[in-house]
This record gives sequence, structure tokens and C-alpha cells, in this order.
Amino acid sequence: FAGEPTNGERKKVDNVAHRGATAYAPENTIAAFDLAVNMKADYIEIDVQRSKDGELVLIHDTTVDRTTDGTGKVGDLTFEQLRSLDAGSWKGEQFAGEKIPTFDEILDRYRGKVGILVELKAPELYPGMEEQVAAAIKKRNLDKPRNNKIIIQSFNFESMKKMDKLLPRVPIGVLTSNRAHTTPEALQQFATYADWFNPSYGIVTEELVNQVHSLGMKIGSWTVRSQEAADFLFEMKVDAIITDYPDYVDPRKK
Ligand code: G3P
Ligand code: CA
Repeated sequence: FAGEPTNGERKKVDNVAHRGATAYAPENTIAAFDLAVNMKADYIEIDVQRSKDGELVLIHDTTVDRTTDGTGKVGDLTFEQLRSLDAGSWKGEQFAGEKIPTFDEILDRYRGKVGILVELKAPELYPGMEEQVAAAIKKRNLDKPRNNKIIIQSFNFESMKKMDKLLPRVPIGVLTSNRAHTTPEALQQFATYADWFNPSYGIVTEELVNQVHSLGMKIGSWTVRSQEAADFLFEMKVDAIITDYPDYVDPRKK
């Protein structure tokens, strides 16, 4: 986590690679996550869903159509079917053969190497996925304070309340692009279970950042796809940028 500023020195902003180094490699694949680590990202962001037969897998859309050579809903396909898909070629022939990763393999490959921002994607489609995610994290002792470079987030707030109960020591984030969720009342409610308030950057203001901080939460914003967007968020003094370009450097880090 970012250290506190001292003597006018400005604190470092965490650099979160959105679905990996998505600008350069196919999102939610090992190729994109390895590249993000090489680019010195502080965290990788991953989208977790579930196969028909119960395996937790990484993919953003609720269908496989856009990012693989298959068709259909993620939750209607077995793990074997999902795993047989090519999740890389759509981004370029050099990525042919990239597979849809499992949540377990990503935890094993990256824990201790880079932080992991885990998004539960459409958990309403996958009843019980919270317990499964919690079990995978606990099994690896990643719910202990000294291992705290894991954050769990979702647009589904009920799911996040549940995660907070299942893993009380793991930071929880709420995602929104809705201004109605930035009222003092809404923010106070989030602060009862969340540690991070993570809005799209279109609704970020300095006032919002200050409100979030005064409630003891951090703020991470998405999705950075230009240097201008990154610079805006650095100016707003957010705690993290969630970016397709983890190679953009905060000039204040130099
Ligand atoms: O981490 C924030 C961001 O990932 C939320 O939106 O649609 O890219 O999952 P989305
Ligand atoms: Ca996401």
C-alpha cells in the first residue's frame, strides 16, 4: 500500500494493471499479467466468473464471444470447454494459444510477486462464488494482514458485504460509475464494509476524493487509457489508478 506523505513529499499512487497489461496483450491471460509484472505494476486486476461445472475462471464478459474463438455464456460451458478455447488470437497471432486462466493458478503464480485486485464479475449469476473465492484465498493463507496485497471488489454491493463477513481481514472495494453512489449517505454506507471506493474517472472530483478519505477509505479509479486520464487522476490525488497501460509512470514517483 502507498505510504503516508512526509514533509510535503507526495505519496505514491498504486498502479493497477486492468485485466493485465491490456493495451499490449490479451486481457485476463497469463501473457497480459506477466507483462504487467515486467512493467512493474503494483497490482494486477482480474475478473472472476465460474464455469458450468464450478471452476473459477478469469474472463471479463459474461459470454466468451469477444475474447475467444468460441461462443456462448461462460456459465453454460464446462471448464474443459472453456479451457479448449483460444483466448489470445483476437489480440494478435503472436498470442495464439493463450488459455482462459483459473483463479487458483493465478493466485499460485502471482502471490508474493504482485498485488492482486480480484473483481467478482456478475456474482449474481454464480450463487456461492463468494464462499469459493474465500476458500481459495484462505487455503493459501492470503487472508492474513501481512499478506494484504489482495483486494476484492465488485459492482455487486451485497456480494461485497458477504465477502467482508467471509474474509474480515481482506480489504473490500465497491465499484461504480453512478453519481448517485457518491452522496454522503451512500459513501457512509459503503464505509461500513468497504476499504476502497473505486469509481470510473468521469465522476471523480477532488471533493469526492476528500470525502472518501475522511471516511477512512481509499479511492482507486478506472479505466486509464491515456496519459491525460492518468495525469487527471494523479492531480485528484487518488490512491490507485486502474490502467490498461501499467507502463505510464506517475511523474511524482521520480
Ligand atoms: O477495476 C475496475 C474495472 O475493471 C471495472 O470495470 O468493466 O473493466 O470490469 P470493468
Ligand atoms: Ca474488472
